[in-house]
Amino acid sequence: MKILMVCLGNICRSPMAEGILRHIAHREKLDIITDSAGTSDYHVHEAPDRRAQAAMLAHGIDITDLRGRQLLPSDFTEFDLLLAMDASNLQHMIGIAPDAASAAKAKLIMDFAPDHPEREVPDPYYGGDQGFERVFEMLLAACTELSAHVRRAT
Ligand code: 4NP
Repeated sequence: MKILMVCLGNICRSPMAEGILRHIAHREKLDIITDSAGTSDYHVHEAPDRRAQAAMLAHGIDITDLRGRQLLPSDFTEFDLLLAMDASNLQHMIGIAPDAASAAKAKLIMDFAPDHPEREVPDPYYGGDQGFERVFEMLLAACTELSAHVRRAT
């Protein structure tokens, strides 16, 4: 299963989601390939935001190797599932999908955590460190359920 995490800048939320899913998949020996991308080109080739790196390291997960890239229409052919952090990302993704079958692969990541009260992962870029910890907790909940879904499906 190939899963792409998508946000706006690809330096905060989606690299955190990629790092959490990569960590769980490695620990549980699940057949998951994961990557992340931004709908914008603002931070292409950049490492994750220092606050995102720190929030992840505080939970024992290293994402310092990740680099920003922009979402491509070909990602819809490459990946089985493309997970948006918020509704704006999702709208953009559907807009560049090559066809309807591809567009159907795009979903909100919090769809995998239906019991969580929030449907969108808030953009932490303009806030403080607390925002990154909150994003971590939301993404951990979603990626834990997502990995259980993959285990059942494979
Ligand atoms: P992300 O956060 O989409 O979670 O990576 C952002 C990073 C950068 C910007 C916006 C959001 N920016 O406007 O530069």
